Amino acid sequence: MPESFQQIRLESIAEAPDHRVADHLRPVGVSAVPSPWGDELLVRVVLSPIHPCDILCAAGLVPKRAGARDGSDSTEFLPGIEAVGVVEAVGSGLEDEFEPGQRVFVCCWAPWGRWEEANGVWSEYLLVKKENVIAVPDGISDSSAAMFMVVPVTAYVMMIEMLDLQAGDWLLQNASGSAVGRWVIALAEELGINTINLVRREEQVEELKQETGAEHVLWCPSDGSANPRLQQEILRITGNGRVKGAFDAVADGLSATLMLNVMSRYGTLIVYGVLANSGVALGFDASVRMVLEGMKITGFSLQNWWLPDTPDEVKQRVYRAVWNHIRNNPALNPQVESIYAFKDVDQAIRSSLEPKTGKVLLCPRSADATHE
Ligand SMILES: NC(=O)c1ccc[n+]([C@@H]2O[C@H](COP(=O)([O-])OP(=O)(O)OC[C@H]3O[C@@H](n4cnc5c(N)ncnc54)[C@H](OP(=O)(O)O)[C@@H]3O)[C@@H](O)[C@H]2O)c1
Repeated sequence: MPESFQQIRLESIAEAPDHRVADHLRPVGVSAVPSPWGDELLVRVVLSPIHPCDILCAAGLVPKRAGARDGSDSTEFLPGIEAVGVVEAVGSGLEDEFEPGQRVFVCCWAPWGRWEEANGVWSEYLLVKKENVIAVPDGISDSSAAMFMVVPVTAYVMMIEMLDLQAGDWLLQNASGSAVGRWVIALAEELGINTINLVRREEQVEELKQETGAEHVLWCPSDGSANPRLQQEILRITGNGRVKGAFDAVADGLSATLMLNVMSRYGTLIVYGVLANSGVALGFDASVRMVLEGMKITGFSLQNWWLPDTPDEVKQRVYRAVWNHIRNNPALNPQVESIYAFKDVDQAIRSSLEPKTGKVLLCPRSADATHE
């Protein structure tokens, strides 16, 4: 075991969830690798993605953990939601279930209010409980395993568990070039579900079509100026009001208004992200349709789904299905934009906020920068 290890801490809350977050994160050396107690595992982190939620946490917009996950008494916030790593040591109570050398996915979410159990995976070594860990099957790359929950499981649960989408159904989504959006497109393609995909940059229309094979990618400028035209276009593509569900990661009200205006009776709009940092105020036309057509708007966070509310057999069924999809369909392996060592976390954060086709990931040391 090394004498010291690397981790990333948030020194102070950032002014806004943008590139300024980079100036508030700091790589530090920690002097001793902790040992696991009875129900703990010591995991050596290999790769961890940077997600929009990490940026929101660093700007104080999502509650966060105070205190590092390293056995020390530091009260600085240690960020990071999910990672792939290797079990280094097993607490005495878990010896029948885990063994050193085993590859595991780690997810550190917490029940609302119990922030002392949340986050903290941007650390070369970390102590976790059994409920934070899922064994990674063979045949799955480290990079796909590192974003298992936030990208594939999120998309799968919204599409299959919540909307029960079937072949021939129509799904509308925004922020479609995101990692989640691309996974939605790829699974829909595999299952024969039709998607209409909105992007905020005009140049991304052709890019996304070529990169994913999606047939319908539409430019949706952030000011909503194209929405009346888009409404007609979507109704034409779907043959009038056949959109069964919509995913809104932007939450600016303009998207939700457009989505409700093209949705079928009893359709469901899932708001699952707040990328616009504004709020969902519906247009009057969409409000009327929602009432008269019995539509639902629901918020979704995989954090809640992952917590004890969901029966364990449902979770196990979903995990098995998602691992199988990833293993059997190369398009369902989320793309990697770049990998940065912890010491370059500032560059990594800035890069994660640039237009890109894949995820930016962190690894503890430069020499580990591989995702195969
Ligand atoms: N609720 C949940 O459980 C859950 C789980 C996972 C993810 N999410 C949410 O899902 C969304 C996508 O996450 P991800 O990890 O897949 O993202 P990602 O790969 O980091 O990509 C972010 C995407 O969002 C787009 N974007 C950023 N700001 C936008 C805005 N104001 N309007 C429209 N598009 C915008 C970007 O477009 P450009 O290419 O134009 O920059 C980019 O395509 C995020 O909101 C995230 O918080 C929620």
